[in-house]
Amino acid sequence: MGNDHWFDPDLWTRITEPTAQGSALPNAAYTDSAFFKLEQNSLFKNTWVFAAFAHKLPNVGDLLPVEVAGQPILLAKSDETAIRAFHNVCRHRGAMLVDEWKSKCRTIVCPNHSWSYSLSGELLARPHFFGGDKHDVNPDQCRESNLIEIRCETWNDWVFVNLDGNAADFSAHIEPLVNKLDGYDLSALNFGTELEFDIHANWKLVIENFIEPYHVFSCHPWLNSFVSMAERSPPVFENHILSCGYEFKETDPARGEGLPYFPNLSSDKKRRGDWYVLFPNFAFEIFPDQLATFVATPSGPDRCKESIGLYFVGDGANSDQYTKARNVVINNWHDLNNEDIGILERMQAGRLSDGFDGGVLSPYWDPVQQHFARLIVESVASVSSEVCGGH
Ligand SMILES: [Fe+2]
Repeated sequence: MGNDHWFDPDLWTRITEPTAQGSALPNAAYTDSAFFKLEQNSLFKNTWVFAAFAHKLPNVGDLLPVEVAGQPILLAKSDETAIRAFHNVCRHRGAMLVDEWKSKCRTIVCPNHSWSYSLSGELLARPHFFGGDKHDVNPDQCRESNLIEIRCETWNDWVFVNLDGNAADFSAHIEPLVNKLDGYDLSALNFGTELEFDIHANWKLVIENFIEPYHVFSCHPWLNSFVSMAERSPPVFENHILSCGYEFKETDPARGEGLPYFPNLSSDKKRRGDWYVLFPNFAFEIFPDQLATFVATPSGPDRCKESIGLYFVGDGANSDQYTKARNVVINNWHDLNNEDIGILERMQAGRLSDGFDGGVLSPYWDPVQQHFARLIVESVASVSSEVCGGH
């Protein structure tokens, strides 16, 4: 069952068998460069994918280059109400237009031949296009060479893009999640800080690990003391949304203690933690006093970057009186994530082994791993059926 057996259909069909007899994804999904490219060209294009934090573009004229599906994308705060996304290349010779965050821009100017575009992507001018001093500023001629816009939507502080333009409406896409968050006034959140990690593991391992609480009892001693395994439920999932949660009896300085709560929060939510994955790679966990986002961005078959964004309620995010309480939360997330990284890198190393073929799964905790695997396979199968043996 080595890595060169990734065309073996049996390995892929085990994600559809009952969990006790089935498996999660085989090794190739975590190691093979062809599978990695397939993911970039399918699931990272055909659905809504997190692109950036909206707070990085607070003012009209702010520009932020990002990467989605391995492609350079440009986000532009084009007016007070909208962040727009474009392919970050000049229509002339394909130079990347913007390579670092910029502010107060009225236009987007290519450094190669000074073609300029408006913040809405319209080509404004092609200097010397018809010879020295013979500029093209004819809007009709220019129009065909506008920047190529990408669907872009902002939800709270999170900017999502859909590269192929064919995903469902964004509001329909997130509606089930919005319903689950009923009772939390997310507009009360303010950004606190971002933690970044470079991990020697496939991005899927990060998301799979995030959604299952089974590893808590052996990997996270503090978390296990906060809420024991006996009180934890297995994750649930519906289509592209996976979720899990728990009640905690006592608060802790890292969770639910010392920082302001969401306004008008119901009493049951004052002792709850709930976490969610929005397929493919955006996740968050919400508590009465904080919200943490997780994004795993692939940088190769066996590498990814993980970002944790930490938000607090009201002035919990920036007031000096909460600095100490905030730092407890931030350090706790940092420590918890470091407890995971060693395990993630071991799981990546294990996927080079001929002794692993998708795993023996817990029928209680791991059905979610198979569901996630099915979402992956369905997404890549839309581009290539051969990878999945036709399934
Ligand atoms: Fe963990």
